[in-house]
Amino acid sequence: MSFTKTSDKKAEGAAKTEPKVKKIKGAEKTLAFQVPKGMHDVLPADQPWWNRTRRAVEEMAATYNFLRIDTPILESAELFQRGIGEETDVVQKEMYMLKTKGGDVLALRPEGTAPLVRAYLQHGMSRLGQPLRLYYEGPFFRHERPQAGRYRQLTQAGFEIIGGPNDPIFDAQVILVFDRLLKYVKIGDVVLKINSIGCRICRPFYKRQLQTYYKRHEQKLCADCQRRLNANVLRLLDCKNENCKPFKEHAPNFLDKLCSACSQHFKGVLEYLDELGISYSLDNQLVRGLDYYNRTVFEMMVQQGPGAELGALLGGGRYDYLFEELGGRLTPAVGGAVGYERLIEAMKAQKVNLPAKNQKRVFVIYVGELAKRKALKLTEQLRSAGLAVTEAFGKESLRAQLKIADKEGFSLALILGQKEIYEESVILRDLRNSLQENISMSKMVDEIKKRLKEK
Ligand code: HAM
Repeated sequence: MSFTKTSDKKAEGAAKTEPKVKKIKGAEKTLAFQVPKGMHDVLPADQPWWNRTRRAVEEMAATYNFLRIDTPILESAELFQRGIGEETDVVQKEMYMLKTKGGDVLALRPEGTAPLVRAYLQHGMSRLGQPLRLYYEGPFFRHERPQAGRYRQLTQAGFEIIGGPNDPIFDAQVILVFDRLLKYVKIGDVVLKINSIGCRICRPFYKRQLQTYYKRHEQKLCADCQRRLNANVLRLLDCKNENCKPFKEHAPNFLDKLCSACSQHFKGVLEYLDELGISYSLDNQLVRGLDYYNRTVFEMMVQQGPGAELGALLGGGRYDYLFEELGGRLTPAVGGAVGYERLIEAMKAQKVNLPAKNQKRVFVIYVGELAKRKALKLTEQLRSAGLAVTEAFGKESLRAQLKIADKEGFSLALILGQKEIYEESVILRDLRNSLQENISMSKMVDEIKKRLKEK
């Protein structure tokens, strides 16, 4: 099996080169191996942020009745070529592809919507109650140039509403879920950018107008824009090249050219958002980097200040035609996906406080060899009674164990020594004021629970 990124077949030989030796700041010694470029370890210290994010996604899914779906990390490369579009950066430059020994060409999934539609069609999910609300989360891969908020392995959660009528209420509902999610994790100063990119009827007219406009400036455009002028002119509105920016500003506005059905739909979305009190900013240059969208497209980002440098925290839109593209029938669908890494960076940049740790835990301390043996069994007894228990087996001195309990923020400790074993009792110590009391072992669980409840 060999991996290549879409545009860089030269990388095929890279595995044969020696790993670079680099001294890492804070590491124990010079290391031969590091995490691959653009990818990250999530260390224990960062896990509370990740737990918070996963928890928020789970909460939103439960609140708005989305059912979980998991699809494989590898899919047929053609699924993305057909689904996302041959002319997109994701397909042209960013896909990690591999050829199996059997000759199949697979890709590490760069996004979740095309796999979700593949699964919906494959499992005949149109037979289930429609619209179907599905969500997913997990790792995705894009061979992008790493920079702030842009990685090669990224984590997304997507919320999708599939099937049923083509009703703007569902566009608004997807946006509502994300709006609520950002509020849940307490990210502030967020702007919702929204646009409509029409349908099969009005889009060709708009594209022709856009082409005519850009052709007048063709020589001054960047190489990518020159190439896309004929192949996929909408992408020009998405170009980040400084030279192309002035032309974008004066480009014709799609919102003026929408057919009446698309115009009605977009008006409907905005009215629902007004009703929900979700403010938005119309952005006629928002076209998104994936070709499957029609009508509504949206992104949310921090408007200014800490977190604004990260770009879009999430994005999505309607993709009614994707089902036909992948062999099914026209099916109304709308959804979006949020990037965990950007969400976490925004939370940190805005100095969001994580909710206080659950303090309902007890720290078990032993003094002496006999007590150590008993303590192992005692901790299990406490766990079976539903208590969260921590110990520091291996640290023999009372002082060392107390120090750890203190450092980890425990308020209650249970101390077991030889005397207590003979008396069938334990010492309960309040670590905040050092007051302690001898309790019979038979009453231990109830007493601990009572004390933890009082805190
Ligand atoms: P997307 O805009 O390509 O949309 O990605 C969604 C989010 O994933 C972005 O807003 C960002 O937070 C995160 N993201 C994307 N690329 C990177 C990267 N290289 N590094 C870090 N984070 C990244 C989609 O993927 C669509 N499938 C969304 C969708 C669902 N549309 C309809 N349904």
